[in-house]
Amino acid sequence: MRLRQWLFQNFREVSRLLSFEEVDFPVLESEALFIRKAGEEITQQLYNFEDKGGRRVVLRPEITPSLARLVMKQGKSASFPLKWFTIGQCWRYERMTRGRRREHYQWNMDIIGISKVRAEAELIYAIVLLFERLGITAQDVGIRVSSRKVLQAALDKFSIPKALFTKVCVIVDKLGKIPVDEIEKELTSLGVSIEAVKGIVDVLSLTSLTDLEGALGSDGEAVADLKKLFSLAENYGYSQWIQFDASVVRGLAYYTGIVFEAFDREGKLRAICGGGRYDRLLSMFGGDEVPACGFGFGDAVIIELLKEKGLLPDLLQKVDCIVFPLDAALEGPASTIASSLRRRGQSVDLVEDRRLKWVFKHCERVNASRLILVGSSEWERGMVRVKNLSTREENDVKLDELDQFL
Ligand code: HAM
Repeated sequence: MRLRQWLFQNFREVSRLLSFEEVDFPVLESEALFIRKAGEEITQQLYNFEDKGGRRVVLRPEITPSLARLVMKQGKSASFPLKWFTIGQCWRYERMTRGRRREHYQWNMDIIGISKVRAEAELIYAIVLLFERLGITAQDVGIRVSSRKVLQAALDKFSIPKALFTKVCVIVDKLGKIPVDEIEKELTSLGVSIEAVKGIVDVLSLTSLTDLEGALGSDGEAVADLKKLFSLAENYGYSQWIQFDASVVRGLAYYTGIVFEAFDREGKLRAICGGGRYDRLLSMFGGDEVPACGFGFGDAVIIELLKEKGLLPDLLQKVDCIVFPLDAALEGPASTIASSLRRRGQSVDLVEDRRLKWVFKHCERVNASRLILVGSSEWERGMVRVKNLSTREENDVKLDELDQFL
């Protein structure tokens, strides 16, 4: 829990630095929110069941649909742009590997109501800021960036119907994970010609914006968006973290524009985080079309990475004072002292019925700063003995002068 809290504090601090507001959603959601027809893995990994009222429900596998639904509900009363973050538990029936669990926490940051690439630039900056705070450098981690519009342009070139777009996205997201001929098979079974399949695979292998411009021309939105993002990245000072890689498509159906994923440069771990623009998700749920983008950042891969790099902090328990009555008859005064210290904001562990030797050991174990011994001879003079455990200094202190020794 100490490790989790430390990580979450960093998530919260970065969100605060970017002036995002914290929000929360129910973990139990209507299954309908996750019924999508593009064949995404996530929809096959649902923890779903029927509740006592006969409703189909799920333990949410992600947070974005809940967020979209809430924004939609707010309708005209929402004052855009909304900048929201949340840290929530998610469940996916996945094959468990390093960094992938059936239950995980996800930090999400989403911007709703900004169609300009500024939104993506801010979100990627937040991810970089988090890495920097954790001691991770651009030598350890990179962020691959592309746009769904790249794939859309490739499909247009081969006159593939727009209705197939999301299905094609979900299939080509598996490039590099399953053999190319399997992907070709899946695409041709959708009715995509062999020639088009080859063309799509070629475009997805591009890793330079100049080559992308060569392939798609310079007047399309894909190239313009990506160029804008890379130019903003220079102004923010995070160019060294990001790279164009057309093979990033992302496995979720709802993305429409720029998509990105952070990866460890040694290639040992799964994606550290991922996100992108989803300008049509709200309208899919029946609301107005509102531009939106965001990312999800899990708690599992980052911890693995910090372990690999020796960057896990020493998170020891920390207690300010141990109060120990040396005699059972002094339990009353010990309570008074503990109570008054706690009112002053000190964390106090009140220990009774132990030997002094055990108490000293305990002080070490919980990293206490001071031991306050309540003994009868001192107490008769209205005093307690305060032992500073780092300097080993000892003083008999009057109760109303305790403050000077804290
Ligand atoms: P996702 O790529 O499915 O995107 O998940 C985002 C991140 O959540 C992953 O990169 C990973 O860090 C973490 N994650 C996902 N599944 C697991 C798992 N089984 N175990 C541990 N960690 C996991 C989404 O979920 C999108 N809704 C993100 C988003 C927010 N897009 C826009 N806004």
